Amino acid sequence: MHESLSRHDRVAIIDFGSQYTQLIARRVRELSVYSEIFPASTGRETLEQFAPKCLILSGGPESVVDARRKPECVANFGEFGVPVLGICYGMQLIAQQYGGKVEPAVHREYGHACVTVKGGSRLFGRCGGPGDGFDVWMSHGDRVVGLPGGFEAIGTSANSPIAAMANEEQSCYGLQFHPEVTHTACGKEILEAFVCDIASCERNWRISDIIEESVEMLCERIGGEEVVLGLSGGVDSSVAALLIHRAIGGRLHCVFVDNGLLRLGEREQVIKTFAEHFKMDLRVVGAARKFLQALEGVRDPEEKRRIIGNVFIDVFEREAKRLQSVQWLAQGTIYPDVIESAGREGAHLIKSHHNVGGLPEKMNLKLLEPLSSLFKDEVRMIGKSLGLDEKLISRHPFPGPGLAVRVIGEVNGRALDLLRRADAIFIEEIERNGLYHKVAQAFAVFLPVRSVGVMGDSRQYGNVIVLRAVETDDFMTARCARLPPDFVDHVARRIVNEVHGISRVCYDVSGKPPATVEWE
Ligand code: XMP
Repeated sequence: MHESLSRHDRVAIIDFGSQYTQLIARRVRELSVYSEIFPASTGRETLEQFAPKCLILSGGPESVVDARRKPECVANFGEFGVPVLGICYGMQLIAQQYGGKVEPAVHREYGHACVTVKGGSRLFGRCGGPGDGFDVWMSHGDRVVGLPGGFEAIGTSANSPIAAMANEEQSCYGLQFHPEVTHTACGKEILEAFVCDIASCERNWRISDIIEESVEMLCERIGGEEVVLGLSGGVDSSVAALLIHRAIGGRLHCVFVDNGLLRLGEREQVIKTFAEHFKMDLRVVGAARKFLQALEGVRDPEEKRRIIGNVFIDVFEREAKRLQSVQWLAQGTIYPDVIESAGREGAHLIKSHHNVGGLPEKMNLKLLEPLSSLFKDEVRMIGKSLGLDEKLISRHPFPGPGLAVRVIGEVNGRALDLLRRADAIFIEEIERNGLYHKVAQAFAVFLPVRSVGVMGDSRQYGNVIVLRAVETDDFMTARCARLPPDFVDHVARRIVNEVHGISRVCYDVSGKPPATVEWE
């Protein structure tokens, strides 16, 4: 833990594998209190060093009644002497640790339920009194059927007589439902009551403090040395660059690799923003030919990603070596990347998203990751505070391998050119019609198939463009955006009329799952 963190009260979230663990951490941060996630197997010493003011035990897919499937958990959380809140699996674990009884429920409870408040627990102090009810989100198989000594039921639902329990004296609580999801009506108030009222955490994790502390920490760590950073033009690397630039000014050197897989006008935009506006040392490397050569004949998406990653490392390394005085490599890694790469057991590789993995190991430089404890929304707020253009901050995500995974099959100059122009028309119209922020991501895809069309009196035999727009909060699941048919019709006409070589436009209506957001 960096010493600047010691000025903040801290909440430790113990992860038992719930899909909502990150959400818990985010909700706590939204209360302006610093939180960090620790795997269930974290040793006592590490947790003691972190010195949290309270612990939140997450939910999880396993069962406390099935010893074979119980995650390894080193610490007995009650012994830390700080308030503990167990959510779902976390509650069952507390019940078991304190001698209560947990059983598989007769009916799995999944979805909405109504919880009625019993007694006057401090945990529900912000959401009404005894007899009041509120909607909650349940998702569990097991449930607590026998309270441990010293605990009482503080909330009930039709299917869970002990939907919430408390030992007020020890400040130990359990919730069968998930307060971290927005479907739980009083979720924020419950977490607020636990973190701020019961654990008395001070709300001082603010963006202005984060900036000030990060800059201070960067100055201290970097000293008089120099830093190189691969700037992609995305939010994360841009904000990392701005923070470091604020700390060390001209001793930061940014390298922007034009891999030939960028969108229309992207390279010019990056130069305008960082070199002209922020006056940073920006080195633009034109490497399109190199990337295209390496991709020749390659159709497999994972192979494309691998090649692009390798060529990037090659190009970047060569450029960085020219900066002989550099000792640090900075990356825009954010907290969710850290959590993800810590690896979830049993997770399957759907697509590899880590495009520059391997770079730090290969280069003989010290690694600097100023955003590694921040969530995306915090990174955006920092960007805004540091004067980054709103348009860049709220830009849709763009994959590292760029248009290479949007040209289906083999990538070549012609396909990239057609795709780039079609994509620019789609996005221009999306923006003009006020739809940009109504969708999470919108883009065009190039299909290597030809289809017949007529334009004027002549026969066209051109390629197909697919328009893709999705609505999603987390990109784990998504549904296709219901764009107005007249709008889609207008975009399709413009593309066929203005991009010679395209004869047909389709709209992708698939959701995720079963499809993914990108086509490759
Ligand atoms: P999928 O296609 O997996 O996409 O549903 C989810 C989100 O991730 C982005 N994506 C990538 N981002 N490198 C990246 O940096 C990649 O290789 C990659 N593949 C997909 C995608 O654009 C969407 O936002």
